[in-house]
Amino acid sequence: MPDRYDLILRNGTVVTAAGIGLADIGVRDGRIAAIGAVPGSAELDFDATGLHVLPGVIDSQVHLREPGFEHKEDLATGTAAAALGGVTAVFEMPNTKPTTTTPEALADKLARAAGRAWVDHAFFVGAAAENIESLAEMERLPGCAGVKVFMGSSTGSLLVAEDEAVRAVLRSGFRRVAVHAEDEARLVERKALVDGGAHPRMHPEWRDAETALRATSRLLRLVEATGRRVHVLHVTTAEEMALLARHRDLASVEVTPQHLTLAGPECYDRLGTLAQMNPPIRDESHRLALWRALDQGVVDCIGSDHAPHTLDEKSKPYPQSPSGMPGVQTLVPVMLTHVAEGRLSLQRFVDLTSAGPARLYGVARKGRVAVGYDADFTLVDLAARRTITNSWIASRCGWTPFDGFKAIGWPIATILRGRVVMHDGQLIGDAAGRPVMFQECGPL
Ligand code: DOR
Repeated sequence: MPDRYDLILRNGTVVTAAGIGLADIGVRDGRIAAIGAVPGSAELDFDATGLHVLPGVIDSQVHLREPGFEHKEDLATGTAAAALGGVTAVFEMPNTKPTTTTPEALADKLARAAGRAWVDHAFFVGAAAENIESLAEMERLPGCAGVKVFMGSSTGSLLVAEDEAVRAVLRSGFRRVAVHAEDEARLVERKALVDGGAHPRMHPEWRDAETALRATSRLLRLVEATGRRVHVLHVTTAEEMALLARHRDLASVEVTPQHLTLAGPECYDRLGTLAQMNPPIRDESHRLALWRALDQGVVDCIGSDHAPHTLDEKSKPYPQSPSGMPGVQTLVPVMLTHVAEGRLSLQRFVDLTSAGPARLYGVARKGRVAVGYDADFTLVDLAARRTITNSWIASRCGWTPFDGFKAIGWPIATILRGRVVMHDGQLIGDAAGRPVMFQECGPL
């Protein structure tokens, strides 16, 4: 009797750890049940001819703004943007209102996401002076992506600036800590450069390379002293990459598509405050250094740092304008364009967007196409030529710094635990995202 599946993806070019080749994939009960020649029938036959089947893309750094800033984004709009962009899981940051610094705030986000999130999700808890004692307990909670530390002030009030406080956070638990590394003292000292008003081109002068390097150097010393590993988010400088390359045992490294694609001063002249984010977009020499680090294996993952603000907010004069730009929907087409242009291989893309985040954060059952894993897939057409436009953006903010970007490579379908949730630019069915499971946490 032939095998029966819920879904068979037919004739796609499948990317696995073993290589890239034509294969069918059979899915049963939300998990991958067979890869290769899959005889049998299914409830749904999906013809993937001409498409590449990648493990679902995990965006491990997004800000979805709910609760508190729903005029910028919420869990429904932000995860719809993710699904439309080929992303199957997001890890969300704690600088909401209230901040995600208590078990109750984490539980509230999980409850809000139920039935409204289009993709699987987990939430970071923010480290703060008041909650250091309870971080270890919180990072064990189901649906918790880990602990996030802001060493420098960015959007919101979360801040752990002093060595003593960072050390206390590192001593508090056991999972890898995600860190925004900018040195607060230097930020305060240099703020006068822009205080009276300035061109956004000054953003990387105020928050200069030394500001980032100082924080990352301090952090690595604290990691050495405490033995707790960290993940340095959105690394932006050549100097940090050189340092991090010497400490692969202590820290993992994220870069963003925007730091790999945009460079100052051109982006500030063209986009003004829309190019303003923390840490800043820097000049071409840093951009090329990030690519070199990526090429040499120093970079572990790519996250979008999706940080929507409204156009109205962004139109405030610099530096009152908020820092951050959306990115969860554009991560896949922007990075596939770099693949098409020969800057990285498709397998390295998968390593950075699926296997990498899964490995760093200890995600259970996601991050590769393998039997028994969740049937999360990002189906892409590597030859599709399309232009990214603001009108395509589902984020409530309604804009992208990549408006007008001519992409080569496009997400055609997003499959979440065996259900097609996006096909040809349309969301399908209902929002059935679930909390991501981590190896260190109990099941929900
Ligand atoms: O530019 C940024 N925006 N960097 C951050 O660290 C926070 C983010 C936000 O939440 O707007």
